[in-house]
Amino acid sequence: MDDEPRTAGLNDKTKRPLGQSMSLGGDREKLAEYYAAWAETYDSDVGETDDKYGLPGSVLVALDTAVEQVPEIGDPGITILDAGCGTGRVAVALGAAGYRVIDGVDLSPEMVAIAERRTRSDGSPLYRRLEGGVDLTQPPSPAWSAHADLVVVGGVFTVGHIPPDAIHQVIKLVKPGGVLITTVRPGYYDTTDYAQVSAALTASPAADLVAEFASLPYTEDTDGRYFVYRINERS
Ligand SMILES: C[S@@+](CC[C@H](N)C(=O)[O-])C[C@H]1O[C@@H](n2cnc3c(N)ncnc32)[C@H](O)[C@@H]1O
Repeated sequence: MDDEPRTAGLNDKTKRPLGQSMSLGGDREKLAEYYAAWAETYDSDVGETDDKYGLPGSVLVALDTAVEQVPEIGDPGITILDAGCGTGRVAVALGAAGYRVIDGVDLSPEMVAIAERRTRSDGSPLYRRLEGGVDLTQPPSPAWSAHADLVVVGGVFTVGHIPPDAIHQVIKLVKPGGVLITTVRPGYYDTTDYAQVSAALTASPAADLVAEFASLPYTEDTDGRYFVYRINERS
């Protein structure tokens, strides 16, 4: 796996590394089709353990720092939105950390269908509510607007997925005073204007930067960047 886009047949039933998903140029229909075909083997392909897929554990590291700055989000009863939830890997980590109210949205209904199967140790569903067909580049529906105390966007600000300025839509999912955590693949950070978009956002009244991690575990092939924002009241 690397950050160079590679072409791949969308109907290839062989292993689908993340590198192939990064060749789709952010085309919503191609991404939806790609993830529909990948959903069933996504977890085994990215790896089931922290040493293979470090992103969920790193979200918890970023969250620890967020809680130091914004103690309210340490409450296990807060509402969390796993945005771009995929098969639910981030929610597994959040649930294990004790968070009880986790919702999820994703472009791909097939990825969401896998997330829907996930349960907690007592057999109850991991997610409270899930919705597929949700495009994070578009303004959120009223149901998801200012919905969550904590929004996590894991593995979506990456090559060929959503553009940096989608963050302006993503912040609308967060309740005023709440927190947004994003993960950013290095190859994306280096080739897009994420840094500039983020700096402009945090220079504006809309959000403050709570923490930035330049290098925490991400996928097997690379570490990633993690950003923690506090979203302010909107005028
Ligand atoms: C690499 S996966 C990460 C999934 C999950 N967060 C994880 O950590 O395993 C990227 C996810 O982003 C979703 N996605 C891609 N473009 C999207 C968009 N415009 N809006 C919402 N989700 C999108 C895909 O369907 C896929 O589930």
